[in-house]
Amino acid sequence: MKSLLGDLEGFIIFMETVVSGIRPTGSLHLGNYFGALRNFINMQNEQNCFFFIADYHSLTTHPTPIDLYGNVRQILVEYLAAGIDPEKATIYVQSDVPEVAELYLYLNMNAYIGELERCTSFKDKIRQQPQNVNAGLLTYPTLMAADILIHHATKVPVGKDQEQHLEITRTFGNRFNRMYNVDYFPEPKAFNFGQELIKIPGLNGSGKMGKSEGEGNAIYLADEPEAIRKKVMKAVTDAGPTVPNQPKSEPIQNIFQLMKVVSTNETLSFFEEQYNSCQIRYGDMKKQLAEDMILFTAPFRERIIAISSDEAYLSKVARMGKEKAQESAAKCIQEVREIIGFR
Ligand code: TRP
Repeated sequence: MKSLLGDLEGFIIFMETVVSGIRPTGSLHLGNYFGALRNFINMQNEQNCFFFIADYHSLTTHPTPIDLYGNVRQILVEYLAAGIDPEKATIYVQSDVPEVAELYLYLNMNAYIGELERCTSFKDKIRQQPQNVNAGLLTYPTLMAADILIHHATKVPVGKDQEQHLEITRTFGNRFNRMYNVDYFPEPKAFNFGQELIKIPGLNGSGKMGKSEGEGNAIYLADEPEAIRKKVMKAVTDAGPTVPNQPKSEPIQNIFQLMKVVSTNETLSFFEEQYNSCQIRYGDMKKQLAEDMILFTAPFRERIIAISSDEAYLSKVARMGKEKAQESAAKCIQEVREIIGFR
């Protein structure tokens, strides 16, 4: 009995709280899947995970109500289709938990204009949208800090570009602790998935797969087979190897890298040999790659279609997520109110 309890305690201590937000900006591609989603799915089994759709954040760009709703819904559908399990992880819509907005207000009282203005993401936005430099953009890091601190998260799985936001989150949490002389908010750390992180290149010869990298660069989980064939057949290649074992150019490395993640080892080594012996026909390789991508994405696409038409299931998931997230958020807000001195 004693040892069983010991094990249980060990297990509870080992469970860390994970928070990650996803901006609702449209459909998911293979880069999103291999870069982030696959890791979320692994994490949900071992940690206390909160994955939310950052719809408050998206208001900085003034979406229409229809676009906002459609994008939030699409992300929810695709996350579920990709394998995030609402029974394991808490998946919720940010605006369903207005406690976040309340914490954001409190944190803003101790967020200084100077430090917010120095934030790289804010400086980038000023450059990108000089006609719309709103206060929401300036305080984006405060809202992100509220997202994370509200659940007392310690691990935040994000890319390198979010490192500075996490630094600010720690600053704000520590500042609150110091100001009220409490040991309340823990320090969240960026969580990188170790060696598992692989770069998924796009189809236009250079750089990573992405929505903003141009038409035809990305393969979406929801793509129809014909769309995949078209995009892959148009992928950039080169003139072909002229000497055995010739080093590969970037576009060719990219095609091999994509094949590595969706095709079998046999297929990959077959084309490696063809390349190394200068017999390769890129057209054949791309045909094979397209078919393997279709096979890989087919189950996702089927689930996307099925879940998307299941309004009852979607609202149930959203309701469940809202309840679980609110339980954790309401507890925090109640404690924060007391600490601040609202009685
Ligand atoms: N800023 C993140 C991004 O652009 C999205 C985000 C908002 C987030 N709130 C968060 C990520 C909280 C992790 C935790 O990708």
